Amino acid sequence: MTRRFRALVAHPQVEALGELAELIGGLGLQVETARSTVEALNKLRQNPAHVVVAYHLSNNFDGVALLESSILSSPEALRIALVSAPDEAVELDYRPPHAGIIIRLVAKPSERSRLVALVGEGVKMLTLVDEQRELVRKLSLDQSKLQRRETLLDVVVKERTKELEESYEKLKSANRQALFGLAEAIEAKDPYTKGHCGRVAAYSLVLAKEAGYPTEGLETLEFGAFLHDIGKIGIKDAVLLKPGPLDDTEWIHMREHPVKGFDIASKIEMLHPIMPAVRNHHERWDGSGYPDKMIAHDIPLSARIVAIADAYDAMSTDRPYKKALALEECEAILKKTAGKMYDPELIDVFVNRKLGALYREDYDDLPYDDGHAASST
Ligand SMILES: [Fe+2]
Repeated sequence: MTRRFRALVAHPQVEALGELAELIGGLGLQVETARSTVEALNKLRQNPAHVVVAYHLSNNFDGVALLESSILSSPEALRIALVSAPDEAVELDYRPPHAGIIIRLVAKPSERSRLVALVGEGVKMLTLVDEQRELVRKLSLDQSKLQRRETLLDVVVKERTKELEESYEKLKSANRQALFGLAEAIEAKDPYTKGHCGRVAAYSLVLAKEAGYPTEGLETLEFGAFLHDIGKIGIKDAVLLKPGPLDDTEWIHMREHPVKGFDIASKIEMLHPIMPAVRNHHERWDGSGYPDKMIAHDIPLSARIVAIADAYDAMSTDRPYKKALALEECEAILKKTAGKMYDPELIDVFVNRKLGALYREDYDDLPYDDGHAASST
């Protein structure tokens, strides 16, 4: 077993030195011996001790001076002076504090048990201090390991988050393209409505911006406006593409498209936020619309916006059964139907800001760019 603690014993007599070394060695310490104070100090300089025991006899063997000097090489050592007679100890009681504590024992065989007990207690204390230091060392080591791991983990998490965000953006973009492609395919079935969804999305976006729609919801609103007629996938071609007016049965079937669109959107998680615009874009302000006969502000704002954009685009573009109306004519119809079919406040914004000029070649300035209404040229 490796002896953890060292002791130095100094005594001028060989026999007494041997006896003391045996006693202290028996307590588990590694013991060095010295027969002079000079030899003892040399050994301590080379190898500091945890326990220093020195014999003291005035004018013969200055053990107290040795113990005081040992502070330089072994500052935390347990120091014991073995005085030859009780009266030799008086000077120890008046020592300055910086000289360290020296414990005094009378150097006679009957005091040996006290020496053993004292050193034994000292070794227990040293062991405890040692264990505490080891614990502190391990804890600080663990802490620095933990910090290194946290830093590493932080880097890994950031990298993974960035990768996931990039993947998500790619996936989102791919899904959007697929859905826009789907909407374009529906438009392509009916050449007369080609470009309609894109224009409804653009009108909805400018109207929403001008009406103070929450910025974070604009992208969803534009998306919803683009796909508002997605339910027409479920409408029979014979009805959807009929060149003439629809009969009652055909109208009933055609009016199913908002609910059909809603059902489609409900099955695709990415489309959930646009479900109100899809389902309710044919509701009317006075409750005469479909499918839920909602009234006024009960109609979702996105659906009220899309309804105006949808109606305006239908009026302002050529259809098989009618020619496109001028901007002012469209605005007049919208104003007339405000409060009956459409949200009157939104109609005010749409008309007063000339938002319908967005796709009109006869209007140069885009009114929503600087917030002022454009003038006719
Ligand atoms: Fe529709």
